[in-house]
Amino acid sequence: MTDGVSAKQERREADLLERVVRSFDDCPDPRLRQLMTALVRHLHAFAREVRLTEEEWARGIEFLTATGHITDDRRQEFILLSDVLGLSMQTIAINNEAYGDATEATVFGPFFVENSPEIPTGGDISAGANGEPCWVDGTVSDSEGNPVTGARIEVWEADEDGFYDVQYDDDRVAARAHLFTDAQGRYSFWGVTPTPYPIPHDGPVGEMLAAVGRSPMRASHLHFMVSAEGHRTLVTHIFVRGDRQLDSDTVFGVKESLVKDFERQAPGTPTPDGRSVHGPWSRVAFHIVLAPAGT
Ligand code: BEZ
Ligand code: FE
Repeated sequence: MTDGVSAKQERREADLLERVVRSFDDCPDPRLRQLMTALVRHLHAFAREVRLTEEEWARGIEFLTATGHITDDRRQEFILLSDVLGLSMQTIAINNEAYGDATEATVFGPFFVENSPEIPTGGDISAGANGEPCWVDGTVSDSEGNPVTGARIEVWEADEDGFYDVQYDDDRVAARAHLFTDAQGRYSFWGVTPTPYPIPHDGPVGEMLAAVGRSPMRASHLHFMVSAEGHRTLVTHIFVRGDRQLDSDTVFGVKESLVKDFERQAPGTPTPDGRSVHGPWSRVAFHIVLAPAGT
């Protein structure tokens, strides 16, 4: 029984809920019926638990309206909302059950772009993006340790100013590319050392974060999407060990297994491919294990 609510009032509220739930009885699609009735039950439970006022619900509708208005084909505020509420990561957890030592998945984020340029093994994804050079290498294998040849690896990241190419007002394509693993399942490329950056916070989601005293910052990371026939597609990032934001990533994306050592190299340290780099650079190894498709 809800505190301070009479038995008669409780019954009125429960009766209304039951009527709404029954309104879906004739839904021909059982899954849709399950989704809609569960959603209604949880929404009513929320309103009843907090004794939602009419002013608060009006404010909620205003917030959702603003979230819709700022959303277009370049900005998706609803995904951002799902991310900061932890719902994106919860959906990922439900749909990517741990499989042996397969690499863990994390949030996709809004900055992936189809048709990225292809680079060869050892190529450079930065294409002029600002940042300290970073050498990334590793392997892709299956859960039995066999190398996966020809796996497609998409990589994308923000520049050192915290912006993805698509956040600039020009048509640049930078700090994103794809490449394929070689016959031994190996890959390598140059990118830039990841730095922390805020999610877009000039809209209703940012306003909500400010109102509740939460930071919009994400932990420094480099995005990967790895696909190969017969394997579950992996969407993940690697994070930088020692980064101050690891414990407060605003989209809850950090998993310990994805935190890697980005080893800082002094100026003049020979590079793995003989490239000459002025100033410091970093290197990181990321060995990826794919789960079988359908798991
Ligand atoms: C990102 O990784 O870039 C990102 C992820 C979730 C929300 C906003 C940004
Ligand atoms: Fe990102």
